[in-house]
Amino acid sequence: MINVAILGYGTVGSGVYKIINENNSHISRRAGDEVKVKYVLDLRDFPGDPVEKVLVHDVDIIMNDKDVDVVVEVMGGVEPAYTFVKRALESGKSACTSNKELVAKHGAELLGIAQEKSVNFFFEASVGGGIPIIRPLIECLTVDHIEEIQGIMNGTTNYILTKMEDEGADFDTVLKDAQDKGYAEKNPEADIEGFDACRKIAILASLAYEKQVDFEDIYTEGITKITTQDFDYMKKINASIKLLGIAGKADGKRYAIVAPFVVYKDNPLYNVKDVFNAILVKGDMLGDVMFYGKGAGSLPTASAVVSDVVDAVKRHGYTAKIHWSTEKRDIVDAGSIATQNFVRVSGDKAAISSKIEASFGQVEYIESDKSSGEVAFITKVLSGREYEKAAEGFDVISRIRVSK
Ligand code: HSE
Repeated sequence: MINVAILGYGTVGSGVYKIINENNSHISRRAGDEVKVKYVLDLRDFPGDPVEKVLVHDVDIIMNDKDVDVVVEVMGGVEPAYTFVKRALESGKSACTSNKELVAKHGAELLGIAQEKSVNFFFEASVGGGIPIIRPLIECLTVDHIEEIQGIMNGTTNYILTKMEDEGADFDTVLKDAQDKGYAEKNPEADIEGFDACRKIAILASLAYEKQVDFEDIYTEGITKITTQDFDYMKKINASIKLLGIAGKADGKRYAIVAPFVVYKDNPLYNVKDVFNAILVKGDMLGDVMFYGKGAGSLPTASAVVSDVVDAVKRHGYTAKIHWSTEKRDIVDAGSIATQNFVRVSGDKAAISSKIEASFGQVEYIESDKSSGEVAFITKVLSGREYEKAAEGFDVISRIRVSK
């Protein structure tokens, strides 16, 4: 018998409880032992919910119970999740989490503790919700050097951008709609400012580069400045705008960035709509491979968490080797990241095109019947610093990097 304790009975925790109970015989057969939820920890009470039978309010009951084999942490946030997961691992229990804040900040350290204690620390659901991406990266793509990871890793912002594009609705209206539908939080900052995607690309970059990429080092820009006018121009060039997390290598130097990007139709990420996520990984031998699916939601995320539980049970007594050292991997700053740029500046084309070309070099103009008094164009590839210098003296309405 494998006893599981779930820390947190929120959206994901209730999904984990449901999946372990509803698919129990299938899960137990796959795990090779009967899997049972022994405890659910939450500060709240849930009168009338079957979870009452296993509900506890004191984490010590779980940590001191030698019969608990696997702790599932689905509380979110760094504390007390970090303290609880560390305690679980130190007391010889495997831990599985969906918590990207926790993994981005303490993943390498927690993996080290798991190794010392011959248990496992798994975090498949921390990136891409229900999409398998962590396990493929560390177990399947072991032969390749990962040259680039590029992904839509936040469902809320992808939903907002899709609605703005397809319905011509403005950002604030769509955000309210997303909140009404329960996609966006009441405080949507983590999603719309890109912080959530930043944690996720930090985790993937750390796994790809095998060293700690600090999320604080990643240039992060959200979607709050994107307007419907930007999308009008995109229609002219067969492109869309997506919030991308990218980790890559240029001129031998590693970089990572989260920002809105112009994505052309020939990029497989172009067709990723609504709350869906997709992550494109480029290996030096394999080439491109894409992972697509539901990046959020109770059951998709819980499905990934429970798959970690099954994996932890199957590996009982030995630790899966996950290469992610606490040693820091330096990445270059945004000024060194080179991209083409979609730019809108105030002015009449006839009057300012020579100034534009003198500053930016050769550009590709985009005409639009909907906007007057401004000029839109795509620049050649410029480093962040080169772009800033070229843009000096212009009234820039909009600047969006262009994905490769
Ligand atoms: N708020 C996140 C999203 C949830 O919208 O993708 C999953 O991490």
